[in-house]
Amino acid sequence: MKESILVTGGLGFIGSHTVAGLQQAGYDVVIVDDLSNSDISVLDNITKITSVKPHFYNYDINDAGALSKVFADHSIKAVIHFAASKAVGESVLQPLKYYHNNVSGLISLLQIMENAGIKNIVFSSSCTVYGTPDALPVSESSPVKKATSPYGATKQVCEQILEDCKNFNSIALRYFNPIGAHESGLIGELPKGVPANLVPYITQCAAGLRDKIIIHGDDYNTSDGTCVRDYLHVTDLALAHIKAVERQLSAKQDNTFEIFNLGTGHGSTVLELITCFEKVNNLKLNYSIGPRREGDVEKVWADSSKANTILGWKTEKSLEEMLKSAWQWQLSLNR
Ligand SMILES: NC(=O)c1ccc[n+]([C@@H]2O[C@H](COP(=O)([O-])OP(=O)(O)OC[C@H]3O[C@@H](n4cnc5c(N)ncnc54)[C@H](O)[C@@H]3O)[C@@H](O)[C@H]2O)c1
Repeated sequence: MKESILVTGGLGFIGSHTVAGLQQAGYDVVIVDDLSNSDISVLDNITKITSVKPHFYNYDINDAGALSKVFADHSIKAVIHFAASKAVGESVLQPLKYYHNNVSGLISLLQIMENAGIKNIVFSSSCTVYGTPDALPVSESSPVKKATSPYGATKQVCEQILEDCKNFNSIALRYFNPIGAHESGLIGELPKGVPANLVPYITQCAAGLRDKIIIHGDDYNTSDGTCVRDYLHVTDLALAHIKAVERQLSAKQDNTFEIFNLGTGHGSTVLELITCFEKVNNLKLNYSIGPRREGDVEKVWADSSKANTILGWKTEKSLEEMLKSAWQWQLSLNR
């Protein structure tokens, strides 16, 4: 067995795929997740995929006493920190919830890591830190612009904290738009309530759980007028975390704080995504065009060449594969 890695939020969408990947690569995984946006059944499903049950603690990362005990009971070598609140719209309505969970949560985690002498942390950041970019594709040297939501602001503040804490080795991974599900059909995106992201909304519409998809605006300056995003497969994204942790475990970081963009480098419009979903899954979706949504960025896609070169990571899976796996996952939920 390789080193023990603590994964906060390890039962969530990206966390669960990363835990499965870490276990398959031979790591001992310890999960801390308070189930605020995930289901305990994910633990069994990860176990089915990997034949190994990860250690699991149903704790809030803000509970310093509980978290200290986890560090005392396991010989943790690195932390991958996914646990956060992530709904952009909700963050506008409840900013304090977001600053508390995302920013105070990180500070609390870092304090306990410091006490335990653990230096390595991989942090879930987001392309939202770029706001509305001046030029495309967006590289790590593109300016960080004023955030368009409290959620985006929490990611900027967390990155600043990590950059300032030079006694840690931190890697911030700026994800573009992760979608899709594990090839086993056992884990995928499992939002509680109305999905805030497009693909789970689409799959729930296709399954008859929601009436209709409303596309937020078709008058943008893009090929068909709908917004452009850089969608990447969640299992590709999960692998980047393993590469990042391995960079830390082998002491290869050039700086105490490093940033990597993670995307395909290719943008798709919302309409292209819908058409592709219909085609690969042989389905018809019910959708119509609504007004623009406040805070939406017109178009964004990644320059991930730094991750390609330095982490040795690149995406493998196509949009077709992403949308097929997302639908297979939805079907497995309905069974
Ligand atoms: N999904 C995306 O599109 C996306 C894009 C960019 C960045 N991110 C970031 O990636 C990370 C993971 O995202 P995800 O899509 O897997 O989200 P998710 O909600 O599916 O997973 C987050 C997990 O963290 C847990 N959690 C939340 N607060 C916690 C706390 N205080 N203590 C313990 N557990 C807690 C939740 O129960 C959930 O299982 C988040 O930090 C998110 O902001 C996500």
